Amino acid sequence: MISLPKRKLPLTLLAFHYLLLFLPKARAKCRTGCPLAIASYYVWQGSSLTHISNIFSQQIPEILKYNPNITNINFIRFGTRINVPFSCDCLNGDFLGHTFSYVTQFGDTYDSIAQTTFSNLTTEVWVQRVNAYAPTRIPDYVSINVTVNCSCGDRHVSKDYGLFATYPLRHGEDLSSVAAEAGVPAQLLEKYNPGSNFSAGVGLVFVPAKDQNGKYPSLKAGISRGVIAGIVVAGVAAASFLAFCLYAGVYRRKKVVKASFLPAAPKGQYFQQRMGSGSTVEKASESVALGGFGSPGLTGVTVEKSVEFSYEELVEATNNFNVANKIGQGGFGTVYYAELRGEKAAIKKMDMQASKEFLAELKVLTHVHHLNLVRLIGYCVEGSPCLVYEYMENGNLSEHLRDSGREPLSWSTRVQIALDSARGLEYIHEHTVPVYIHRDIKPANILLDKNFRAKVADFGLTKLVKYGNTSLPSGLVGTFGYMPPEYARYGDVSPKIDVYALGVVLYELVSAKQAILKTNEYVPESTRLVALFEDVLSRPDPKEGLPKLVDPRLEANYPLDSVIKMAHIAKACTQVNPQLRPSMRSVVVALMTLSSSIEDWDISSSYENQALLMSPR
Ligand SMILES: Nc1ncnc2c1ncn2[C@@H]1O[C@H](COP(=O)(O)OP(=O)(O)O)[C@@H](O)[C@H]1O
Ligand SMILES: [Mg+2]
Repeated sequence: MISLPKRKLPLTLLAFHYLLLFLPKARAKCRTGCPLAIASYYVWQGSSLTHISNIFSQQIPEILKYNPNITNINFIRFGTRINVPFSCDCLNGDFLGHTFSYVTQFGDTYDSIAQTTFSNLTTEVWVQRVNAYAPTRIPDYVSINVTVNCSCGDRHVSKDYGLFATYPLRHGEDLSSVAAEAGVPAQLLEKYNPGSNFSAGVGLVFVPAKDQNGKYPSLKAGISRGVIAGIVVAGVAAASFLAFCLYAGVYRRKKVVKASFLPAAPKGQYFQQRMGSGSTVEKASESVALGGFGSPGLTGVTVEKSVEFSYEELVEATNNFNVANKIGQGGFGTVYYAELRGEKAAIKKMDMQASKEFLAELKVLTHVHHLNLVRLIGYCVEGSPCLVYEYMENGNLSEHLRDSGREPLSWSTRVQIALDSARGLEYIHEHTVPVYIHRDIKPANILLDKNFRAKVADFGLTKLVKYGNTSLPSGLVGTFGYMPPEYARYGDVSPKIDVYALGVVLYELVSAKQAILKTNEYVPESTRLVALFEDVLSRPDPKEGLPKLVDPRLEANYPLDSVIKMAHIAKACTQVNPQLRPSMRSVVVALMTLSSSIEDWDISSSYENQALLMSPR
């Protein structure tokens, strides 16, 4: 577990001030951009709105506002153009453009990204210029920059047009066809694009575009010096306001800590508050005095939004921790099913010596809330330390992959589980303060609710370690088979250890095999699942070998392309060099793309499978 103070904000502020100071002096080619420009995206075969929405980081409803002709969002016609809104920025004071960040897919080249993925809205040379990777060695699933030029209009040409589309020319088009499509006079287009050959079949031009009301918005007055002065004043005011907020925030936090030593919040009515709309904020915080079994340094954890239960109540809810209620056994305790205040819950009764793990879990889960992280309802510190969670009807993922008594998980469910788990981890890696590293990702720690949506669980090993710190091998925790080499050998801790472990889980979702396999019952040698897949994926045609590794219980009910993609994502995650592994955010994006391609397959396969379902197996 890692703590990374978010210092970015003050730095950004400083940079902003610095920029403002120099703004009037710089001989800039552009001074400001404009909030809106349009990318005219030529639809190629196989592109979907989801794909377009992903690459431009723009919500589908927002895109639809500029495309009144789209009637069916699941079907966009090949050969038409989609208007995608984006903000047009003044980049480096040099030119107008916007830099999108794009996560590379297996087999991408700068050329394919420019021509296909971004449908010629940029060029290979441009993309290469704004990225450090050599064109022959672009890693898979890394984030790269893609810059698209834009225009905010030109008051010397006309003040009637203030919104412009970046329009890649295509074969068969000429000045009159483009003018007709844009609905503006041809001479005007020429004036906006001096020197452009509209019949060239390649290259970008800027054409006036309509806003969401279907009108051509006029050009707003250019920014005068007075306005710049205004911006500086506003900037300073905004910065001061922000500084005040930050101060107030820190001050308030201190107050919260102090308040946490007040008597515990009233119990009762707990479930109504928590299980209701979900937006309730409990005002009271509590401090847990763990002198009984915690080291003195660990006392005083502030526990917001959770409830302290009495041991008695938990005894009652689990029928005296009856073995019949036992639903799980982990390294640090036993988990029991409970009915607590009329609701289903899971109670982890920790071993007495597991106080560190208890505190780690309590600390993380009381501060971090996300749909894809198991929710902590409360805790108990009398008697045995206990943690109370929301009950996850379908247990852990491992049971579903290994237990042949259960229905096999469908391919689309497996993709969804992968995406849910990645989302939960992305959240703790990137959106919490401090950021956390789970350190024990494996199928037994991924839980499934009644709809088979996954949540990451078991935060007992999550520890606060500063980024870049190396913990000694004695502090090594986790599970063999899921630990990356730099961690197992040198104890190097970074979020990339969770990325590696998730990669192994992805291979397990494909194959239902264990992370470490016995090659032969009579031979003590073992093989790592990672090595098994790498061997097949490195062959000239992985399509041949891969089906042999796919979980036999899927039978033929999976799209091979999708399985191959999942295997490639897993391969990127389990690379030896942690720096080459994608960030969890990139994994989420890659899995989102995979999951949207599955949706189409699901629809067609549900028809195909109807006959299958009806025939006796
Ligand atoms: N909220 C829950 N709902 C249902 N089952 C759970 C829940 N929490 C844990 N379990 C079961 O108990 C097992 C152990 O829980 P875990 O939190 O991983 O404990 P440990 O830290 O001891 O490994 C899980 O693999 C799962 O099968
Ligand atoms: Mg566990």
